[in-house]
Amino acid sequence: MAKVNCKEPSQIQSIAVIGTGSVGASWASLFLAKGIKVQAYDRHPEAKEKAEAFVKAAWPALRELGVTNLAMPDFKLLSFFSTIKEAIKDVDVVQENVYEDLDLKRAVLKEIESGISDGTLIISSTGGIPPTELQKGCVNPARFVVVHPFNPSHLIPLVEVVDGNETDPEVVAWAMKFVRYLGKEPVHVKLETSGHLTNRLQFALVKEAVACLVEGVASAADIDRAVRYGLAPRWMLMGSLLTLHLAGGKGGMKGILDHAGQAIESWWTPRLVPKVDEQLIEKLAKASAEVADKQDVQDWIKWRDEQLVHVLKLQASAKATQPKQ
Ligand SMILES: NC(=O)c1ccc[n+]([C@@H]2O[C@H](COP(=O)([O-])OP(=O)(O)OC[C@H]3O[C@@H](n4cnc5c(N)ncnc54)[C@H](O)[C@@H]3O)[C@@H](O)[C@H]2O)c1
Repeated sequence: MAKVNCKEPSQIQSIAVIGTGSVGASWASLFLAKGIKVQAYDRHPEAKEKAEAFVKAAWPALRELGVTNLAMPDFKLLSFFSTIKEAIKDVDVVQENVYEDLDLKRAVLKEIESGISDGTLIISSTGGIPPTELQKGCVNPARFVVVHPFNPSHLIPLVEVVDGNETDPEVVAWAMKFVRYLGKEPVHVKLETSGHLTNRLQFALVKEAVACLVEGVASAADIDRAVRYGLAPRWMLMGSLLTLHLAGGKGGMKGILDHAGQAIESWWTPRLVPKVDEQLIEKLAKASAEVADKQDVQDWIKWRDEQLVHVLKLQASAKATQPKQ
């Protein structure tokens, strides 16, 4: 097997983006903002128009966050091709974002591998397929690693790097460095687990929110209010483990677990694990109308993305003042 070409991130000149739906278009925006040439392919007939509109809409936020100082995207750096084979020609990295379907992703990986040199890096956005599964059947599995972002990916700082059994450790180190070069916060997920790390955390809370709704603990609006006003402000500053440590005051984590450990254990013991059946889908659809206050999803997304820029700036400035040695 050829040695993987882990090019210094600042030397990367071109990336092939395969699949330019919401995540692919978001990555493309970020790569363009970093001055990297994007060679794109998506089988949707209007993919080019959609992706260009996405990049245009994403640009002011990327500028505001200092990722780029260009007033407008340079669309000369973005080319769309009519086949994967053309899109991947001579690129430094291939980045994959097709639908979350193991067979489809394996077929796309096969096509990618047949058109690149043996040492070219391949990264995937998969939200939950274990990389070892995706690597099966790869000609050079060592150059494959999952680099998983969070929606909207050009804004949310976290990116998970997940290696499979056959990923070269140098590729993992490269991916961590690449993510930092893009101005993001990488975490290395050391054990493959369904949902990686962050979706596992996220859906543990979603599951409890749904269970509370089903049990009738509170209204949908109040369940969301509990997250927004109770948990989110502190979680913007620190994770749930440090939050717990601080809840123990001077005694810290050990202090709180010594006196409240039994109660905490009873709170985290699962009571109801909701089944996603028709009845639940119906209930959640009604709940979503309540929490969205009957406003259009697109209006919420626009508002969220505009406000996220302020939140991220605040988060960065708070980080700069946090206690340190
Ligand atoms: N949506 C999220 O919040 C999110 C977050 C992180 C990661 N992801 C992951 O990113 C990937 C893409 O998700 P998405 O939300 O962008 O989906 P999406 O439906 O918005 O986009 C998928 C795109 O893939 C294209 N496509 C499908 N088959 C193709 C093929 N054979 N060749 C080329 N293009 C093809 C489709 O035309 C579509 O444009 C998934 O693996 C998902 O798990 C999603």
